Amino acid sequence: MITIKNELQLSKMRSAGHLLYDVLCTLREKMAPGMTTYDLDKIAHELITKNRATPSFLGYYDYPATLCVSIDDEVVHGIPSKHVRMEEGSIVSVDCGLILDSWQADSAFTKGMGKISEECEKLIRVTEECFWQGIRQAVDGNRIGDIGAAVQQHAESHGYGVVRDLTGHGIGQEMHEDPSVPNFGTPGRGVRLRRGMTIAVEPMIAMGRYPVHQLSDGWTIVTNDHKPCAHYEHTIAVTSGLPEVLTYPGFSWENAL
Ligand code: MF3
Ligand code: CO
Repeated sequence: MITIKNELQLSKMRSAGHLLYDVLCTLREKMAPGMTTYDLDKIAHELITKNRATPSFLGYYDYPATLCVSIDDEVVHGIPSKHVRMEEGSIVSVDCGLILDSWQADSAFTKGMGKISEECEKLIRVTEECFWQGIRQAVDGNRIGDIGAAVQQHAESHGYGVVRDLTGHGIGQEMHEDPSVPNFGTPGRGVRLRRGMTIAVEPMIAMGRYPVHQLSDGWTIVTNDHKPCAHYEHTIAVTSGLPEVLTYPGFSWENAL
């Protein structure tokens, strides 16, 4: 079921989104080569609970952590561990969700550890561009396929693979609501977007080919060709004009990409 949010509900999602933005800014600042993904998870858990919010991933289908931290060929759902260090030269995707006052926010970014290759720098940059190209299409009256087509067009124009097996999603009082928001598609196809819809748009873009598989830990998704993958996600609200990015308080479309 697709839920349309009213102004009061949107303001609660905005508060959740703004708190998540602060958490992710702190993580981005503190993550450094040599640190374990467990230590990063601990920082996130403390920040979220200190602010009277709840980590939404923890316990979701028995997921054991606050963050998903996915390194290099890991696409998403990497489980934080005391035995995994974020090494110099790797690219690290950090995904986090929280619930504040019963409303959800979900956001992710990818950061290079220390000096990374130029091709990895470019992968991260193009993945963010894919997100912005995609959400420019998230306007009242357009369709879900318009978002996916824009993401896919931009990624494939750089020779990258668009991961198909995981998608963005509606979000509200549940982390995963309808509709599903694929990062590929056909313009003019799919569910019609309406003002008050809130969705998480999250391109997962692979330097190589898009097929992926799950590791035996039951969570971690990796690329079949083991080439690196980047992830970028925000929770957005469809408005009467360009979307509002609920997990990016300072953002303004005037200085967008
Ligand atoms: N953040 C993921 C998403 O964007 C969900 C994480 S799965 C979980 O949909 F189990 F870790 F919660
Ligand atoms: Co999500």
